[in-house]
Parts: sequence; C-alpha cells; structure tokens
Amino acid sequence: MRRKIVAGNWKMNTSLREGEELLRNLLAGLSDRHGSQVIIAPPFTHLPSAAALLKGSGIELGAQNCSSEESGAYTGEISAGMIKSTGAAWVIIGHSERRTHFKENNDVLLKKVKCALKNNLLPIYCIGELLADREAGMQQEIVGDQLKEVLFKLSPEEAGKVILAYEPVWAIGTGKTATPSQAQEMHQFIRRLVAEKMGNQLASQMRMLYGGSCNAKNAAELFAQPDVDGGLIGGASLKAEDFISIIKAAG
Ligand code: PGA
Repeated sequence: MRRKIVAGNWKMNTSLREGEELLRNLLAGLSDRHGSQVIIAPPFTHLPSAAALLKGSGIELGAQNCSSEESGAYTGEISAGMIKSTGAAWVIIGHSERRTHFKENNDVLLKKVKCALKNNLLPIYCIGELLADREAGMQQEIVGDQLKEVLFKLSPEEAGKVILAYEPVWAIGTGKTATPSQAQEMHQFIRRLVAEKMGNQLASQMRMLYGGSCNAKNAAELFAQPDVDGGLIGGASLKAEDFISIIKAAG
C-alpha cells in the first residue's frame, strides 16, 4: 500500500509573517487524525521559521527548488545542503514554472536531483506536457523524455527515493483540471514505463502525485484513481481551510 501524500507548493507567495499565520491556521485546523503524509513547500526565506513551527507536528517541510551546484561562487543560488540544514526533508525539482521561466532543461534537472540526493534531500520531480503537446497527441512522448533524461539516469536506489508529480502544464493555475480518467491514464502510463525501465518493484512502490488545479472539490475523485497517490497543490494550499479539506480527501 502506498501512503498518500499531499504537498503544498506555496510558490512565490506570502510574507514571512503571512506564512507563519498560514502554518498556524493549518496546525490548528489539522488536529483531527488524517492518514496521509503532508509536506509544505514555502519560499526559501520561510524555511527556518517553518521548521520551528512544524516541529513535532508530523508535517514535513520542503523547498521549491535547489541549485544544481554544491557550493561556491554562484551568487543568489541556494544549495541542497543549505536547504537540508534548515530542517527541510524535501525539494521540488523541475516544476513547469522553472522549466518555462528559468529555462531549466532535463540536463540541469538531473544535476539538481543528484545534488539533492547527495545531500539527503528527497526530490519531488515534476513532469508534464504543455497544452500544445496534448493537442498534438504528444503527451506520453514528452513525459517519457522527462523521465528518460532524469529518473532513468539514476541508480535504482536513487530512483527509489524520488516522488513524481505529474502536472499537465495546461492545468496549473488555470482552474482547468485533468479529469480523473486523464490523470489515471497518464499515471498508469508512467508506472508502466518505470516498471519497464527500472523494474516492477520500484514501479509499484513509487508514489506519483497529481498537480494542476487540484482543489477541495475535485481532490477526492482524483485521489481515488488507482495510480494517483496524492497531490501537489498550488493555489489551494494558500488557504488553510481548503488545504485541510484536500488532506482529508486523501484519507
Ligand atoms: P495549482 O498549482 O494547484 O495552483 O494549479 C499546482 C502546482 O503548480 O504545483
């Protein structure tokens, strides 16, 4: 049985004080039992205070990106080791906003995943096609390449530490969600490909999150799909009440 994960990607939102308030509201509202693993990825600047606030809560902490370099003269970069030193355990790598706005390609993303793993930070590796790719019927090819050039270049031991997040770019922040059957179809394709390249055991254990306008209303149906192991939540993770509903939808 794969334990479900609900991860909140705050993106470039909230001041430090607003972030702390959001976490406090989340902690207050989440006193009930829930079975899923919860991860929050606030901006870098919030990590130390978030680590202190979340201590003992069972909610885990992640960053939204890390450098592809270990350390040194890279002004403005944040290394995987620095993130780890704040108490965070996870890092989102390859989000479509990084691929699009910051021109991160699969080569650099492989370096980032390797840096994260070397520093004992667990990667949430994001994949997904553009609207034009889907309209051209190319979605499996695009996602297949994003896996081949990153995940399948890792050792099985390394790959076993990665969580995948399938986020069709046309569904991110658009209010347009993949239907549960579109999500399931792609997740099943991904799991089969992972099985083919890296073995059945790894594929059956690998957790795959859906992301893209997942909200309190549609989460339960998406998470009920056999190959969907939870969600990576953007907009709806910025409202404690909505995020809590999504966590509850995961069981
Ligand atoms: P969204 O973002 O939930 O706002 O669509 C998801 C994401 O980008 O991870």
